Amino acid sequence: MSGAALSVDGLTKRFQDIVAADELSLEVAAGSFTAVTGPSGSGKSTLLHLVGAIESADGGSITVDSVEVTALRRKKLSEYRRTVGFVFQRYHLLPALTALDNVIAPVLPFKVGFDKRARARELLDAVGLAGRERALPAQLSGGQQQRVAIARALIGRPKLLLADEPTGNLDSANGTQILDLLLELRDERGMTVLLATHEQHIAARCDRLIRLADGRLIEDIDLTEGEPPESTLARATQLRL
Ligand SMILES: Nc1ncnc2c1ncn2[C@@H]1O[C@H](COP(=O)(O)OP(=O)(O)OP(=O)(O)O)[C@@H](O)[C@H]1O
Ligand SMILES: [Mg+2]
Repeated sequence: MSGAALSVDGLTKRFQDIVAADELSLEVAAGSFTAVTGPSGSGKSTLLHLVGAIESADGGSITVDSVEVTALRRKKLSEYRRTVGFVFQRYHLLPALTALDNVIAPVLPFKVGFDKRARARELLDAVGLAGRERALPAQLSGGQQQRVAIARALIGRPKLLLADEPTGNLDSANGTQILDLLLELRDERGMTVLLATHEQHIAARCDRLIRLADGRLIEDIDLTEGEPPESTLARATQLRL
């Protein structure tokens, strides 16, 4: 499986008099892992919601592989949404469902060409939760709940994974483990990842860092280039995160 290439061109989104995306243009390579940073209100979540077609744009275009997402309507749009995985800061698990059923939930209403339970088990295993299939969210730690949410995001084999502050509710050790897991899953499964974060130690470990301010792209750094830093902290300091 390979990741999707993403192309954003002149993307604009307004909320009354607020311009949350201001003619934003961006190319994201297939299989890359990009950190989206910037202060609160800079438009990070808006960008992820527009790319995932949770919200619709007021102008500009989003193209994923050869599909112009901003031109899709109804059936095609819901088909597209099913090819995108979302991970949120607050996990958003259904409290009455077991870990396994939470992972199956996104594909439950659909006819799919695979065994849903078998794939959900395989994913819970991949995120380190083998044996916890029957646990309810309340019986799991925050880091474990986020692992369930990551497994759920991967059930449809997305080519694009959008993670909005996935480590924002976790302490730094658990946050680092979640990032390690996402990097490992990207390496194994090849999906393209966009990850919004405020945290320097998280952003510094991605392939690329883009910084937004007032809905505009103000910085774009390739972190795979040049001398490797002595440590993640050195890189974060170097990047003035
Ligand atoms: N549904 C909405 N209705 C009105 N304004 C909104 C809505 N969603 C976002 N905004 C506004 O758009 C701007 C960008 O918001 P966004 O949530 O994308 O920022 P963010 O960078 O994700 O911030 P944070 O770091 O706090 O999550 C903000 O000014 C916000 O108030
Ligand atoms: Mg946000």
